[in-house]
Amino acid sequence: MISNPVTAIAHPNIALIKYWGDVDITLHIPANGSISMNLDELFTRTCVAFDSGLKKDEFILDGKEMGGLSLDRVTIHLDHIRNLAKTETFARVESWNNFPMSAGIASSASGFAALSLAASRAAGLQLDETGLSRLARRGSGSACRSVPGGFVEWQAGKSDQESYALSIAPAKHWDIVDCIVVVSEEEKQTSSREGHSIAHTSVLQPARIEDTPRRLESCRSALMEQDFEMLAKVVEQDSNLMHSVMMTSNPPLIYWLPETLAVILAVKALRMNGIQACYTIDAGPNVHVLCPEEDAKEVYQRMIEVRGVKKVLICHPGGPAVIE
Ligand code: PMV
Repeated sequence: MISNPVTAIAHPNIALIKYWGDVDITLHIPANGSISMNLDELFTRTCVAFDSGLKKDEFILDGKEMGGLSLDRVTIHLDHIRNLAKTETFARVESWNNFPMSAGIASSASGFAALSLAASRAAGLQLDETGLSRLARRGSGSACRSVPGGFVEWQAGKSDQESYALSIAPAKHWDIVDCIVVVSEEEKQTSSREGHSIAHTSVLQPARIEDTPRRLESCRSALMEQDFEMLAKVVEQDSNLMHSVMMTSNPPLIYWLPETLAVILAVKALRMNGIQACYTIDAGPNVHVLCPEEDAKEVYQRMIEVRGVKKVLICHPGGPAVIE
């Protein structure tokens, strides 16, 4: 028997206040809360059907049959869903990203959010947004933030039950643009998964964690009041704090390239010229430059001219994960 196929769409997100380090590595209970914005123009579309004729799960990504670690991660996630739905049937999962994996943008957040929604529905479960966010978190921590729409806060919590994300403002609340400045299209050498597991080895991590409530509060207020200057200050500080922890971990993690620093300096120069913009960087060398919509053209033009920049993608705030 084959279940009705269900297709879901989810957007990746950019963290304004970052998640770095877990207190529970298996359940992805984070060491600190975080805030992000979904990216409207980018998405993963995933179709899931449970089929009693299958001997194992099948995972097709961008037209390619996947095996190894990628398939294992999907199967572990499906095992959890099968457990909740009390079924043992394997599934066929077909997934497409509208952005190339080589663009240096993590697809695990949108991927696990879309998979959680499509697979839970195909298995007959009707999870609410909180339940779905908790489920997506198990696949990849930041995926829990791609379930609700717009500007989203992940409440760290202390247990599986308490750790999930909620929308704090809809996508239309504030038209901030994320200019994703791509300086490298290579896959990173250290995954965020490995990075989270050594965050505690940095002597700076406890100070970063202790100060997080202040940064969360400042980011929330900046978003609510649409105060870009306040947002810029806390977003850059938060990104610098996370990269300081990464660089002082054991072993040290340096995700930046020379071009990353060139973009940071170009953003500072833009600000000196009265253009509102700020940078934030995830676990990779590419730089997300945020600005109000009215400055986006100018920011794009300046960024594309920085030596070593391969391309700049423009993204606006995006909605929640949805069934297609
Ligand atoms: O969800 P993961 O394991 O891909 O970790 C995400 C880590 C950062 O992107 C660096 C920060 C964040 O909060 O998204």
